[in-house]
Amino acid sequence: MLLSVSDAYLLYGMKMKRWLRKILACVLPYEELAHVYNSYDIVGDIAVVRLNEISRKYCKNISEAIMQVHRNVKTVLGQTAPVCGEFRLRKIEHLAGENRTSTIHKESGCLFSVDLEKCYFSPRLFYERLRIAKQVKNGETVVNMFAGVGCFSIIIATHSNAQKIYSIDLNPTAVKYMQENVRLNRVYGKVIPMEGDAKEIIQKRLQQTADRVLMPLPEKALEYMPYALLALKTSGGWIHCYNFEHACKDEDAVGKAKIKVAEKLESLGANFEIPFGRVIRTTGPNWYQIVLDILVKHRP
Ligand SMILES: C[S@@+](CC[C@H](N)C(=O)[O-])C[C@H]1O[C@@H](n2cnc3c(N)ncnc32)[C@H](O)[C@@H]1O
Repeated sequence: MLLSVSDAYLLYGMKMKRWLRKILACVLPYEELAHVYNSYDIVGDIAVVRLNEISRKYCKNISEAIMQVHRNVKTVLGQTAPVCGEFRLRKIEHLAGENRTSTIHKESGCLFSVDLEKCYFSPRLFYERLRIAKQVKNGETVVNMFAGVGCFSIIIATHSNAQKIYSIDLNPTAVKYMQENVRLNRVYGKVIPMEGDAKEIIQKRLQQTADRVLMPLPEKALEYMPYALLALKTSGGWIHCYNFEHACKDEDAVGKAKIKVAEKLESLGANFEIPFGRVIRTTGPNWYQIVLDILVKHRP
């Protein structure tokens, strides 16, 4: 017998876990449950659920379950495909609650205004953003090549004594939200939003300015490496490079990413070390998002 969503919720008591299959175990037929994506994101007061054909049939139950567990959620959106395109956008549709795609998200003491349909945003990077911010030393100049709505940049501005964080993005809407977020977090003059292609902006305006460069766009990590080097001061500095890597069970995903990036840096004539790398998250079967912290001792 299928129970109602509220009965199911009562059965699970007060444990507010972000695991859909657990929440839905008493609501959906067992054979269908395995096909529902297991987790979802909460961004501000919006929940985003990944949808496939099976979970689409139960989107009403799924939305109800989420809204009962998270009383602050006012809107549930369904993500119908992975992020795609130059601007890394999600394809989304409205499932329940207020019909909107914009919200304000709180992270590490900062506020981020974001439109989930028109800009990239992932709450899953919160630990990584703070990890980078904690490494920034007094008076540093940072170049964020792929800044989105400004999350890394604003968290760095708030949690460090960086002098300036030049924050580039190609998506005009993301830059508009970044400007709004600079205002919301009162980091005028510290975070400098810049609209355009990171390659061009670095060549024209940011050569040899940075102590630290962020490259949070795995798809362009290798192609844009020459421009990351160009942005660094001649004395060198740090590059935080994000990658996707495939690795089977007995393979080391971080090691594979290091080899690939090291080959690229060697081909560009850089003198460097890669003292740290880690898996940020699993992005698919045997696929991982990796960050490498690269110390460039001398630029080519
Ligand atoms: C994965 S998102 C990173 C967002 C941000 N770092 C964050 O933590 O939310 C990558 C961003 O790079 C931007 N982008 C893509 N190609 C670019 C380019 N050539 N130059 C500058 N930005 C670019 C996209 O518009 C997108 O906002």
